[in-house]
Amino acid sequence: MPRPGAAALDRAKSLLDGALGPSKVVTGEGALAAFAGDESENDPVLPDIAVVAESADDIRAVLRVASETGVPVTPRAAGSGKSGGCIPVGGGIVLATAGMKAIKEIDRNEQIAVVEPGLVLGDLHAAVEAEGLFYPPDANSLSWCALGGNVAENAGGPRAFKYGTTRDYVLGLQVVTMGGEALSIGRRTKKGVTGYDLTALLVGSEGTLAVMTEAVLRLVPKPETVVTLMALFEDVYATSRAVAAMLGARVVPACVELLDRATLDAVRRAGVSVDERASAMLIIEVDGAEVTTELEMERVGGACDAAGALAVLVAQDVAQRDRLWAARRALSPTTRAMAKYKVSEDVVVPRAKIGALLETVDVIRETTGVSMLTYGHAGDGNLHVNFLWNDPAQVADVRVGLDMLFRAVVDCRGTLTGEHGVGLSKASYLPLEQSRAVIDLQKQLKGVFDPKGLLNPGKIFPRVGHGGC
Ligand code: MLT
Ligand code: ZN
Repeated sequence: MPRPGAAALDRAKSLLDGALGPSKVVTGEGALAAFAGDESENDPVLPDIAVVAESADDIRAVLRVASETGVPVTPRAAGSGKSGGCIPVGGGIVLATAGMKAIKEIDRNEQIAVVEPGLVLGDLHAAVEAEGLFYPPDANSLSWCALGGNVAENAGGPRAFKYGTTRDYVLGLQVVTMGGEALSIGRRTKKGVTGYDLTALLVGSEGTLAVMTEAVLRLVPKPETVVTLMALFEDVYATSRAVAAMLGARVVPACVELLDRATLDAVRRAGVSVDERASAMLIIEVDGAEVTTELEMERVGGACDAAGALAVLVAQDVAQRDRLWAARRALSPTTRAMAKYKVSEDVVVPRAKIGALLETVDVIRETTGVSMLTYGHAGDGNLHVNFLWNDPAQVADVRVGLDMLFRAVVDCRGTLTGEHGVGLSKASYLPLEQSRAVIDLQKQLKGVFDPKGLLNPGKIFPRVGHGGC
């Protein structure tokens, strides 16, 4: 991807220094390295300049300067993304919002919170829960991921099964568009159908249309009780039967998380003892009023037993529950440490096709010889299929495997990404799922917001031809 010329960069740097003061404008390779990468497999790319924004006015200034000078700008919150969304592939400016961490308002009556983009998700959870409220989206990196990234990627998490994803909780946004215009879109009320739903468009637009400076989030009452169960199965396919049986028993758990045999082996190696006979685990959580959760717990247990579970265990206290979730939330880093290279996909298939997807994973493993493991949000059919390898020469085999995986997912009417976004990682596969007309329509929308293509260039859309076809 071409980088901006030296003259444009010099001009941008001096305009930024003038508008913001040099302390917010970072240059120099050492300091810029912190703004180069994310948690995906994509190589980091050094920007030419990073701006550490402290306010909406700073963000306006950056987008005005970028527009005036023709220098690309890539927004960045915590950098926890898994698709390369905040990697500045075109160089230029990284617009870092991690320092804008304020919770501007929590309104108990209206059940809303107003937050800045750098606020860490776990901190939002703690603050609203102290008020008896609840913000359900719970990306597993919640201890460090930030709301700006969550909104940009429409982040999900285990509780999406019952509660939905970030988009379901964003009522309105303050954003800045290229050129520096501030816009207030959406609303603060639960209902509202005035005009096009620009909020829904911007949530999940991967930082390619506008930069968020504030979000109005919908909250719900904090559930009174939470019950966490762990069910072990000899056969991974039995987990699909168990999920179907739960839904058949009219229970929608908050979470239904699956760990396959290879993932359980990784967990065992990390020091957690799991019954050796088990080749699959479900972590299931039900929440609500005490009387409801008791009934649901029994039904979930019955569904697992009927599907042939080896054992169904209920977390006895908060400490046990926390230990289980800590192990689950650590799966990404735990499995990352198992090999030199790792790709974690986040494909989604209709629930009834989870068994078929797992069979495809077995076929890919045999065909390519690459180590694979699968875990994720089985209730949603959203599974993290991971490829792990040590020898750089295996990249070609991984590419073959990815192609097989994505084609199988699209063939069963699934979707390429359920929560990590297209970013750089899946841009070349977009045409597998979406028609040329649909991709072109989205590019036209991009052109309306960003006619010069300067905001987060290189993301979502395939750069050369239709790579997947
Ligand atoms: C998860 O569910 O743990 C995250 O989405 C990250 C991942 O492992 O891919
Ligand atoms: Zn996930």
